[in-house]
Amino acid sequence: MSDHITIMNEKTGRIVMLAVDHGYFQGPTSGLEGPGKTIEPLLPWCDAVSPTKGVFLRCMPAGTKTPVILRASGGNAIVYSDPVELERELSIRASGVADEAAREAMRERIADEIVNRELSNEAVTVSAAEAARLGVAGVSVSVYVGARYQKESILNLARMSDEGRREGLIVLGITAVGKEMTRDARYLGLATRIAAEHGADVVKTYYCEGFEQVVRGCFAPIVIAGGRKVPEREALAFCRRAIDEGAVGVDMGRNIFQSAHPVAMIRAVRSVVHDDLSPDAAYEMFEDLSAVPLTE
Ligand code: R5P
Repeated sequence: MSDHITIMNEKTGRIVMLAVDHGYFQGPTSGLEGPGKTIEPLLPWCDAVSPTKGVFLRCMPAGTKTPVILRASGGNAIVYSDPVELERELSIRASGVADEAAREAMRERIADEIVNRELSNEAVTVSAAEAARLGVAGVSVSVYVGARYQKESILNLARMSDEGRREGLIVLGITAVGKEMTRDARYLGLATRIAAEHGADVVKTYYCEGFEQVVRGCFAPIVIAGGRKVPEREALAFCRRAIDEGAVGVDMGRNIFQSAHPVAMIRAVRSVVHDDLSPDAAYEMFEDLSAVPLTE
C-alpha cells in the first residue's frame, strides 16, 4: 500500500466513501438532481466523497472538510456517439429484414452495443495539477478492461498515477463494466489487478461470487461500488460479505442516495464497515433510524 493513503478511517483502517459522480456520463441521475441537497446530510457519515469536477465546484456544501476523491476521467455519454456507424451496422445486419418493427428493435440493440463500446473511450478530464490546486485528496480514473478502448483507459490511469504521485494525490482506479461484461471473479480479478499494476493506490470494483479470489489477486486495497439500487437489506448483506472477504470499504452511491432514507442507510453501511455489524443488526439500525424524523 502506498504510504500516502490518508483517507482511511484512523481507527479501523477502512473507508466509507460516498459516490456522487454518476452524472458525468448519465446526466441527471435519480437522487442526484440537486447534488448539494443530496450530499449535505450525508457528509457527517462518510470518510470521503467522490464527486465530478462540476459537482465539486458548484454543489459541495460550503466549508466541506470531508476529503474529496475527484472523478478525473470521462468524455462520453449514454447516447450513441456515432450515428453513421449505427446506420452502417444496421444496413449490414438488417439487410434481409423487411419488417419495420424488427428493424427498429435491431437499431435499438445496435445503438446499445455502440454506447457500451464507446463509453470506454474516456480521457483524463482533470489534470493532476488542477486537482491538487483544487485541494482534493485524490482522483479517480476508470479502466475498461476488455472493451474497445481498453488500452487508452489503462494508459489514462498509468499517467494519472505518475502525475498524481508528483502532486501527492491518491489515485483510485475504477474497474468500469459495460452491460456485456460479466461481473465475475475471473473478470473483476483481471481488471482489479491490471488497475493495481498500473499504479492505482486503491481499486474500486464490484462485489461478486468468489470475491476473495479478486482480493487475493490484487495487491492494492479494494473498495466496492454498490451498483444499481437493491433493497437495503440486500445491499447491507453484500457490504458485509465484501468486508469479510477482504474489501477495505465501499464507494457507494445509488444504494445510499436512492434509498427513501439516505441518512439511515449510510449510517447502517457505516456500521457494517466500521463497527462490524451483521447485516441483520445493520438493517435493524436502518429501520430504527428511518422511523425517526430527520433532524440530522
Ligand atoms: C460510476 O459512475 C461511478 O464510478 C460510481 O461512482 C460507482 O458506480 C459507484 O456508485 P454506485 O454505488 O451507485 O454503483
